[in-house]
Amino acid sequence: MSDIDLGSILGSCTNPGDRYARLLNPRFYKLLRALGFDRTFVRGEGPWLFDEAGDRYLDAIAGYAAITIGRNHPVLIDALHQALDSGLPSLVQFEANPLAGALAERLLETTGRGGDRVYFTNSGTEGVEAAIKFARASTGRSRLIHCTRGFHGLTLGALSLNGNPGLREGFGPLLADVREIPFGDREALAAALAEEPTAAFIIESVQGKTLAVAENEWLQEVERLCREHGTLLIADEVQTGLGRTGAILGTDHAGIRPDIVVLSKALSGGMVPVGAVIARDSILEDVFASMARSHVHSSTFKENVLAMVAGIASLSILREERLEQRAEELGALLRTRLETVAAETGCIRAVRGRGLMLGIELDVERMAGSIKLPVIGRHRSTLVAQAVVRHLLIEHRILALSTSAESATIKFTPALVIEHEQIEQLAAAVHQTLERLDGTTLGADIHGLAGLTRGIIGG
Ligand SMILES: Cc1ncc(COP(=O)(O)O)c(C=O)c1O
Repeated sequence: MSDIDLGSILGSCTNPGDRYARLLNPRFYKLLRALGFDRTFVRGEGPWLFDEAGDRYLDAIAGYAAITIGRNHPVLIDALHQALDSGLPSLVQFEANPLAGALAERLLETTGRGGDRVYFTNSGTEGVEAAIKFARASTGRSRLIHCTRGFHGLTLGALSLNGNPGLREGFGPLLADVREIPFGDREALAAALAEEPTAAFIIESVQGKTLAVAENEWLQEVERLCREHGTLLIADEVQTGLGRTGAILGTDHAGIRPDIVVLSKALSGGMVPVGAVIARDSILEDVFASMARSHVHSSTFKENVLAMVAGIASLSILREERLEQRAEELGALLRTRLETVAAETGCIRAVRGRGLMLGIELDVERMAGSIKLPVIGRHRSTLVAQAVVRHLLIEHRILALSTSAESATIKFTPALVIEHEQIEQLAAAVHQTLERLDGTTLGADIHGLAGLTRGIIGG
């Protein structure tokens, strides 16, 4: 009955990679090839990906940490089928969308943010843009503060708050009224807040790029300082939110209550883009201040049926399967195992992160002392990390991510439904990779990758 046959669409091209390169992004395809990621995955299930040959891969990238409930979770798939079969109209726009109300209710309950209100978005960066506008409208101030190495998305407002110069380069001028402070620096924040009235300070409780964890005491002090100065605290929980760090929100570990919380990734179930901004009631009162301004911030696809249903199903799975507890327990196990690898190989400078958002920073200086690494200038650290990522993929069928252009950091954010056994598999693969990589193998890989100048973005 259907004119669209997905099987034949997928099978219609003998070399889909070349077509992608030709029509979308040749340099990205070149990067994929260099890293060994030029393979086609045809199926996903839980924490696994399967390629055309039927080989199984443990996915510790998990859609830049968006996939917490595992791929193709049956509850999510069933809910989406129900939505598709329901005949419900999407995008009526001028309606009090019942699914949006239902998701907002569940979201506030799950996050313990009763009394707040919700604004839905289609992505994380869009949530950050909304948060910037909401903070400005509510405080009547324009200035924003963010942290070095912070990542909040790549649209122009969010990019202005990005603490990674390589990602900002070439896209200016960005928002002018912005100040950067070192992550975790109380004095710098106090001084920056005292300098000038500031609309908002935006933080990640665990930085996605560096895996640095905000100390509880620092976060408590941040909350206090922001209150003292009338500055709104925006928690960017796009990555840390909804279970990833071992709590529902990453900022819950510190017992603080940010004025605005931005969520996305996990809310989607990894299937339908969706994000949410949770804000104190009074903030959204200031933004949507009259009937004339009641939709002064909006977008066409927000609150669409599939997104709302994906959100409802994802929250239900999170609660039913107590995924934040799994993240805490399995994250503790992975950390212990990685610390053992660090002690036994001497190749790891630090294990960082929280819950199932963990990273290792390779000790490139030390590795260079025991094996012969090629001299390739300032990108050497990143290239060593990329070579290890490549080795994990090719030899161990594990997908991991090198996150930073400045350091040799490798990041693991598997689905929270991962099992003990797979944590052991991941740690053993890292151990073997670091132990057995001799100068020749690593050196050859690094030379092969030397055309690359940056780590993969996102994540
Ligand atoms: C903390 C954080 N904020 C914002 C974003 C941007 O989200 P999106 O990629 O959905 O625009 C990301 C994406 O990785 C993120 O990790």
